Amino acid sequence: METGSEKRRGVWGTRLGFILAASGSAVGLGNIWKFPYITGEYGGGAFVLVYLGCIALVGLPLMYAELIIGRRGHGSALGSLKALVSQQGGAGRDLSEFTGTLAVASGFLILSYYSVVAGWAIHFLWVSMDLIPLSAEGGAATTFGHLVGDWRLSTLWHTVFLCLTITVVGRGVHEGIERACSRLMPALAGILCVLLVYVGLTGGLARSFEFLFRPDFAKLSGEGVLEALGHAFFTLSLGMGAMITYGSYLQNDRTVVRDGVTVAVLDTVIALLAGLVIFAVVFAANGNPAAGPGLVFVTLPDLFATMPGGELVGMAFFFLLIFAAWSSAISLLEVVVAYFIDQHSLSRTQASWLLGGLIWMAGVGSALWSPVLDFLDNLTTRYMLPVGGLVIAILAGWFVRRGDREAGFLSLGDSGRPLAAVWTVTIRFVTPVLLAAVLLAKMGILRLPW
Ligand code: PHE
Repeated sequence: METGSEKRRGVWGTRLGFILAASGSAVGLGNIWKFPYITGEYGGGAFVLVYLGCIALVGLPLMYAELIIGRRGHGSALGSLKALVSQQGGAGRDLSEFTGTLAVASGFLILSYYSVVAGWAIHFLWVSMDLIPLSAEGGAATTFGHLVGDWRLSTLWHTVFLCLTITVVGRGVHEGIERACSRLMPALAGILCVLLVYVGLTGGLARSFEFLFRPDFAKLSGEGVLEALGHAFFTLSLGMGAMITYGSYLQNDRTVVRDGVTVAVLDTVIALLAGLVIFAVVFAANGNPAAGPGLVFVTLPDLFATMPGGELVGMAFFFLLIFAAWSSAISLLEVVVAYFIDQHSLSRTQASWLLGGLIWMAGVGSALWSPVLDFLDNLTTRYMLPVGGLVIAILAGWFVRRGDREAGFLSLGDSGRPLAAVWTVTIRFVTPVLLAAVLLAKMGILRLPW
């Protein structure tokens, strides 16, 4: 039964609607821009294998933790944590305050630069439609260099993208977010299928497959392992309360077990398919898979320009990138907006435009000077999200009451009991220990064995 207060806060209309919104959050620039380029940089197959391990051992248990906290707490990240943990006072309350606040700060900072990168994708959509010419000298590298170097141009696209995002969030959970994601996600899947068929016809797919799925452990570095874990967080939208917030719009009787796996699997499959497409294009034209962050903005547009039907394929690709980024940006803003609606009683429209405006201002910093963008990306993905995830794991494992903790599993019936037991052990011991080890290794306090 939908209660009056649930109606006021907003609830998802259907189970599919929730899955599409949550996977819309997960599938984003992380899958289509970042995953391929870090896989290229860190050597392919072996990195992919470690990344899959991180998704299973750290990502999925944390995804459950966040969804369960949201579904039982029915509040923003901070509101839900407080509702489930704070009554117990002491350390639990302090940790909840800390993580809830960190979550809002992470959402704010990530969206500020995310929107600038998504803006570049809009620029390249225009380029692929020939509305903006690819630079005659130096091709996409020059076009990209010009875009990044011209803060007014970057700011223009950043403004367009953020307005699109604010408009959807301002309309609410069901009318705005669910409706937008229910259109964006099928469109995204359709475009990806068309691109797969295309690369299947043009060659390069076999080499791409080998690059992604044949592990060569000699190429794996300690740095690569850290990156894989950080990316597992980023790509599943974990460690900053996005899944707590989305979980809070679920009704009480819903199990989170199947939905959590569905979102994690969809996210992983889409990253792998996007990687297959991108590397197939790269290999078909003898490009360099380790081209770094410029892979989709420099290497690909140049290759599209030389391929049969490349103009249409390029257009489809940048639509894919923009749609993916949009549904993720919506969830980043929602975390911040939900916090201000809950804690400061702003209306949804006020909170969306006010906070969106502040995030826009912060984003101009990244548009002005790209080291700001790199700094924020490092700070958030390497530190803030893993710290947020570590504290959420500790809270879910040790501070949330047993009944609340296991409710999401037990609503499955008897088959939920063993799952609840496995998850409880993982979230109490495995996830926090792995996360703490990785954080210490990043700070240089712990040395990795390889
Ligand atoms: N998961 C999104 C991506 O892969 C990014 C994101 C991070 C969205 C954190 C929400 C919260 O692009």
